[in-house]
Amino acid sequence: MSERKVDFLIVGSGIAGLSFALKAAKLGKVLIVTKSNEDESNTKYAQGGVAVVTDHTDSFEKHIQDTLIAGDGLCNPQVVENVIKEGPARIEELIAYGTSFDREDSGSYDLAKEGGHSAHRILHYKDITGYEIERALLEKIHQEPNIEILTHYFAVDLITQHHLGKHVDKKSTDTACYGIYAFNTFTNNVEKFLAKVTLMATGGAGHVYSSTTNPTIATGDGIAMVYRAKGKVRNMEFIQFHPTALYNPSEYPAFLISEAVRGFGGILRRCNGESFMEEYDERGSLAPRDIVARAIDSEMKRSGVDYVYLDITHRNKADLLSHFPNIYEKCLSIGLDMTKDFIPVTPAAHYLCGGILVDEFGASSIANLYACGECASTGLHGANRLASNSLLEAAVYAHRIFLNAEANFASLTYQESVPDWDDSNTKLSNEDILVTHNLRETQKFMSDYVGIVRSDFRLDRAMRRLGLLHEETESFYKRTRLSVKLCELRNVIQVAYLVVKSAMNRKESRGLHFTTDYLQHAEQLEDTIL
Ligand code: FAD
Ligand code: SIN
Repeated sequence: MSERKVDFLIVGSGIAGLSFALKAAKLGKVLIVTKSNEDESNTKYAQGGVAVVTDHTDSFEKHIQDTLIAGDGLCNPQVVENVIKEGPARIEELIAYGTSFDREDSGSYDLAKEGGHSAHRILHYKDITGYEIERALLEKIHQEPNIEILTHYFAVDLITQHHLGKHVDKKSTDTACYGIYAFNTFTNNVEKFLAKVTLMATGGAGHVYSSTTNPTIATGDGIAMVYRAKGKVRNMEFIQFHPTALYNPSEYPAFLISEAVRGFGGILRRCNGESFMEEYDERGSLAPRDIVARAIDSEMKRSGVDYVYLDITHRNKADLLSHFPNIYEKCLSIGLDMTKDFIPVTPAAHYLCGGILVDEFGASSIANLYACGECASTGLHGANRLASNSLLEAAVYAHRIFLNAEANFASLTYQESVPDWDDSNTKLSNEDILVTHNLRETQKFMSDYVGIVRSDFRLDRAMRRLGLLHEETESFYKRTRLSVKLCELRNVIQVAYLVVKSAMNRKESRGLHFTTDYLQHAEQLEDTIL
C-alpha cells in the first residue's frame, strides 16, 4: 500500500484549504487532497461577496452588531470581534494574491448590501466573487514549490489511536490525528497519508437536502469523519436555507439568485404581484435570511405554489448587466429576462452554520487536527450566519490556524506503524441501487421533516427513518469495496443524524431552528455539542 508523509496535510481546496496552504508552505511541505477538480468547491460558486469594513461611513462596531443580531444570541462575541477586526488585513492578503474586487469610477470599492447588514460593506467581483477568489488562490498555489495538490482523492477517515488498536471513546481527551486514509479514484485503492498537522477544510453539507445551492461535493465528509473519530461537533441544527434559489425544477443543484439582487432593490412578490415581506418584518425583503426564508415558506404553503417572485425590473438595464452578468445570462438561458420579467425563486439549503467544534485558533477537540471554513464551528455565526460572513471567516481562521501551527510545529513528529487500510473482507458491489436510493430517500425526508419549519413529530419520524437507513448502509459498507458514492452516502446519513439529534435537543426556536412545538427562546442560552 502506498504511504506518504507530509508536514501539512490539507483536505479540501476551497478558500479555507488554499488560504492555509499558502501560509503553511513557509514552514514545510504541504499536500492538498481534494475529491474533485482542484477548483470544485462551494467557494467557486460564491456570488454576493465578502463582508468587511473598508469604508469610513461604516464601522467595526456596526458589523459586529449586525453579526450578533443575525446570530440571534448564540454567537461568541469575542470570536465575532476577532473576525471582523482582523478581516481587513486578510482581504488585503487576498488582493495581494491577485483577487480583484469591483471599484467605482472614483476608485473606491463598489460596496454591495445584503440582508441584515446596516451598511453597504460587501466587496464583490461582479456576481462571481467566489470564482475570482478561487482563481487567484489557485494561481498563487501553482507558483509555490512547497505545495502539491492531488485531485480526485477522496478522504475516507482520519487516522487516530483507534487504528493502532487502542480504544478511543467520546470521553477520551488524548485522541490525536496522525493523517488520513484517502481513496485514489484512479486506481480504486485506499492510500495512507501521514502528517504532523492535518487541516479539515471540506466545506458544507447542502446535499443532506434534496434542494440545495451547493455543488455536489458538499456532503459533509469532514464533519462525519471527525465525529466518527470521536471528535466534537457543535450546533448542527442550524442549517441556513437561502431564500432565493432560482425555481427551475429540472436543475440540480439549484442556481442561486444572490441576495445582492435584493440589496440592489429587488422586491419579493406574491404570484399576484403583491409585495409581502413588510407583513413579516420591518426590514422588508432585506431582513436576515432566516426570517425571509420562513416568510417565503409560509407564503408557498398558504398559496400552494412552489415559488414566489423576485422583482428587480425597476432598476436600469445597464446597471443590472454590469452588477449581475452571470445571473442575467443564467435567467436568459431559461427564457427569463430579469430586466423585464419577475424571477421565480424558492428557498434551498445553502450553508451549515454549525460544524466541527474549534477553539479561537481553529484547533479541534482532536490533537494535531484543525478545521477551517464551512466545516468548522468557530462561534462566529451563532444561530444564523450574516450574509457574506463565511468567506471572511475562512480567510481569518486560515491565518489564526497558521499562527497556532507555527508555534507548535517544531515539536511534532510522524506516527510510525500505522497499518494499511484493510478491505480484505469486502467484495465489489452489484447493488449500487441501494446507494442511489438511500441517498435520495435521506435527502427527501430531511427536506420534508427537518427543513425550515420543524416539530417534535417530524424530527421523530426523520430519526426513525435514519436509524433504518444507517443500519442498512453500514452493513453494506462493511461487506463492499469502497466507492466515492458509498462513502458520501455514509457521510450524508451521519451528518443528517447530527442535524436531527441536535434539533431534537434544542427545545426552543432560535435563528434558523424554528419548531412549532417551542415557539419562544429558552431561558438558558446553550450550544448543542455532540
Ligand atoms: P469549499 O469551498 O466548499 O471547499 C471544500 C473542499 O473540500 C472542496 O475542494 C471539496 O472538493 C473538498 N472535499 C470535500 N470533501 C472531501 C473529501 N472527502 N475528500 C477530499 N476533498 C474533499 N459565502 C460568502 O461569504 N459570500 C458569498 O457571496 C457566498 N455565496 C455563496 C453562493 C453559493 C452558491 C454557495 C453554495 C455558497 C456561498 N457562500 C458565500 C458560502 C461560501 O461560499 C462557503 O461557505 C465557503 O466558500 C466555504 O469554503 P470552504 O473552503 O470551507 O469549503
Ligand atoms: C448570496 O450571494 O446571496 C450569497 C451570500 C452568502 O451566502 O453569504
